[in-house]
Amino acid sequence: MEHGQPDSLGAGHVLLTGAGGQLGAALREAFPGADARARAELDVTEPIALDYTPELVLHAAAWTDVDGAEADEAAAMRVNVEGTRNVAALGAPVVYYSTDYVFDGEKQEPYVESDGPAPLGAYGRSKLLGEREVADGWIVRSSWLFGSTGHNFVRSMLRLGAERDEVRVVDDQRGAPTYVGHLASATRELIALPRGVWHVVAEGEATWAEFATAIFAEAGLECRVVPISTEELGRPAPRPAYSVLRSEREGAPRLPHWREGLRECLTRL
Ligand SMILES: NC(=O)c1ccc[n+]([C@@H]2O[C@H](COP(=O)([O-])OP(=O)(O)OC[C@H]3O[C@@H](n4cnc5c(N)ncnc54)[C@H](OP(=O)(O)O)[C@@H]3O)[C@@H](O)[C@H]2O)c1
Repeated sequence: MEHGQPDSLGAGHVLLTGAGGQLGAALREAFPGADARARAELDVTEPIALDYTPELVLHAAAWTDVDGAEADEAAAMRVNVEGTRNVAALGAPVVYYSTDYVFDGEKQEPYVESDGPAPLGAYGRSKLLGEREVADGWIVRSSWLFGSTGHNFVRSMLRLGAERDEVRVVDDQRGAPTYVGHLASATRELIALPRGVWHVVAEGEATWAEFATAIFAEAGLECRVVPISTEELGRPAPRPAYSVLRSEREGAPRLPHWREGLRECLTRL
């Protein structure tokens, strides 16, 4: 199998896991020569056999059902921890996508790379243990991902906003909604930077209710946002109240503001 000439890191022999997911779709575009495998073509919970040696692995496959992880933590661990172990065993440097949910949300200002993680729920625990499987590579912590494909908040709000006059949306969790296209482009920059943990999220911050209001405004939908509390929503998994991330590292990729990401996303829907 030939995936281009490996004249610099990321230029050839790149394996992409989780290519069927929303970040996977954006990474396929940013790394057009990559060997992009969706779950049916490469299940990371099985030992991975390739007929070539990858020079880099973009590991976007994960158990991402935050509430489902509370009900079946072992299954989340199998994908996020054992799956990452299998990926790391290929021997190539790994770009591992991690999450703001490794933090407890008690901090009142953005979390930086040197802050200690303390996940509140099973998903965050599994992603944090997954980070520890990556001995060589980049741990890219991002947050509140959205794109023009897959399951995400923007697509859910567009659907609900077209069906209803009002939606109830949580207004006491604050984060940085990040467009997958911007995260995928930043990944290209990141692989030229030193390995280790990097926080890579959009500029700006919002609550889910503020984000929903912006989605309806940008999409021209007449739907009222009724702010509610996390407690009122009553989801099974605890989530951090504040999980804005920023990088304290020199040369960290800077992403556009989330509102710009939202506009780009909407042009593709
Ligand atoms: N979504 C967010 O808000 C967010 C925030 C921060 C970090 N992240 C991280 O960013 C990465 C990408 O997330 P995403 O939003 O693109 O999630 P996603 O759309 O759910 O994509 C994840 C993909 O992984 C696949 N997958 C699940 N189990 C697998 C397995 N055993 N083997 C191979 N593939 C498997 C899924 O396939 P199926 O659909 O067939 O299960 C899905 O296509 C993940 O590491 C996630 O933890 C996400």
